[in-house]
Amino acid sequence: MELRPPIVIASGVGGMGEYLKLIDPRYIGAYTLKTITFKPRLGNPPPRLIATERYLINSIGLENIGVEKFIEELENGLYEELFRKVKVIFSFAGEDFEEYLKVAEKMAPYQDRFVAFECNFSCPNVHFNPLSDTNQLKKMLIELRKKLDVFLIAKLGIEGAFIEQVARLVEECGWNGVTVINTIRALHINGETLIKGGISGPVLKPIALRAVYEVRNRTNLYIIASGGIMNETDAQDFFKVGANAVSIGTALYRDPEIVERIAKKFL
Ligand SMILES: Cc1cc2nc3c(=O)[nH]c(=O)nc-3n(C[C@H](O)[C@H](O)[C@H](O)COP(=O)(O)O)c2cc1C
Repeated sequence: MELRPPIVIASGVGGMGEYLKLIDPRYIGAYTLKTITFKPRLGNPPPRLIATERYLINSIGLENIGVEKFIEELENGLYEELFRKVKVIFSFAGEDFEEYLKVAEKMAPYQDRFVAFECNFSCPNVHFNPLSDTNQLKKMLIELRKKLDVFLIAKLGIEGAFIEQVARLVEECGWNGVTVINTIRALHINGETLIKGGISGPVLKPIALRAVYEVRNRTNLYIIASGGIMNETDAQDFFKVGANAVSIGTALYRDPEIVERIAKKFL
């Protein structure tokens, strides 16, 4: 996969294409859509977002319209403008192993529209953690690879197993890339209210950097770095440890122009 510039809009943060209103598409290498699951999901009850200087905690819980409705929208041309302007990455997940396969089956006829499929194995806001059972995960990686011909990316987190070991498995099963990392389970206390969710933003950077470093040392996979990339220096650091592209998430909420600034440096 060749992304010029090597900059990706992170899944979830970029919604279903909304940031195209704010960012010149020339500066976007690829736009990842919000994760789509087999069944529609309402997501978690509020509070869903806590923002501080150093981090954001979100408890969205994969709210999405479900794959059938997404396909309906796709067929009705809702994403044509997006496809015309940028390369698009389809992100998907399931509430169990079977559901991952069912989404892949449903989306296989449409795979040519996308530059890649990103399989989200690491959402911290749902009960199912595919990374905690690597035997099952391996079976699923093999089955998903059989069902899809597209450039296939596994989105990995650091909870479940050592990320470099999972990445090796991903490579052995014939996948093309990994997104490293996702948010990590965290807790914020606001008076008497406990807010559980996935943490993102600046505090994630050193953890993500180490994860990219480890994965690069053990695999030849295409690596999209994700976690705390807030400026050009952060992006540079991830390229230094072997990332092929950088993903911009939380930084979009602060200043969408970050994408243009990073792009101009790495075009
Ligand atoms: C509000 C919010 C929603 C997110 N939703 C998703 C999602 O649906 N699928 C996914 O793979 N990652 C999701 N993420 C994780 C981001 O794609 C990204 O990997 C993570 O936030 C770390 O990068 P950052 O520090 O640049 O934000 C979400 C993150 C946030 C903040």
